[in-house]
Amino acid sequence: MAGASSSMFELTGVSKRYGGHAAVDSVDLCIGQSQIVVLIGPSGCGKSTLLRLMVGLITADAGRVVFEQESITTDNVQALRHRMGYVIQDGGLFPHLTARQNITLLARHLNWNDPRIKERIETLADLTSFPLAALSRYPLEMSGGQRQRVSLMRALMLDPDVLLLDEPLGALDPMIRSQLQNDLRNIFRRLGKTVVMVTHDLAEAAYLADTIVLLHEGRIVQQGDLSSLIDSPANDFVTHFINAQRGSSILQGGAL
Ligand SMILES: Nc1ncnc2c1ncn2[C@@H]1O[C@H](COP(=O)(O)OP(=O)(O)O)[C@@H](O)[C@H]1O
Ligand SMILES: [Mg+2]
Repeated sequence: MAGASSSMFELTGVSKRYGGHAAVDSVDLCIGQSQIVVLIGPSGCGKSTLLRLMVGLITADAGRVVFEQESITTDNVQALRHRMGYVIQDGGLFPHLTARQNITLLARHLNWNDPRIKERIETLADLTSFPLAALSRYPLEMSGGQRQRVSLMRALMLDPDVLLLDEPLGALDPMIRSQLQNDLRNIFRRLGKTVVMVTHDLAEAAYLADTIVLLHEGRIVQQGDLSSLIDSPANDFVTHFINAQRGSSILQGGAL
């Protein structure tokens, strides 16, 4: 087992409430270095909220979020954020900036020089198979798949220790989605970084993850690989969740 020194994230008793409702409810979660973890569960179960807590965009009402041995606080969150690459749901590109401007915004803010920026962008375009000629396009002039590649490049620009992605393929049509799943798997392998990714698609989770973390009503119900969820479900919800996804054609003859 990974010792404390090698963990990327350690969440202990983390809760976040909105009004009377617990979006995230007493979550304990340890994510080791170089692990690829996928958070999954039905809409509204707290996946995005959990990711935002890990990135420090919102603060827990109770519990602790430790990133690389440091508790995330309002004092250190800005510095810690530079070691995390985060892709929000729907990509979050600035529409009035070109792909290149979107990708390099933070590096320019940190006064990287032009040669360093150019070299990094070329590395990332190669990694994500993004054509250099398209870097001068605005988000509206790109396909959905290209926008996702740009969002990924932006998140990776500062060479973060961890990459967090919130349903990066959610809005794409099935053909493009399948291509990007393939590409993402190769990119994750080449990077060798810790990845925390949200999806609601079990086949996608099984294809990409070392560890699947299944959430229900703000709580972690079970974590492990797909076969452990199928063979030893923690409760009826796990079985229902898996069976509900077996009907979708992508799973037939596939992972399930
Ligand atoms: N900023 C917010 N204000 C009020 N309620 C919120 C807010 N963010 C999330 N919630 C609620 O918390 C629950 C979990 O939301 P979310 O984390 O977005 O779920 P998921 O990403 O799994 O679909 C939902 O009931 C949602 O309505
Ligand atoms: Mg969400």
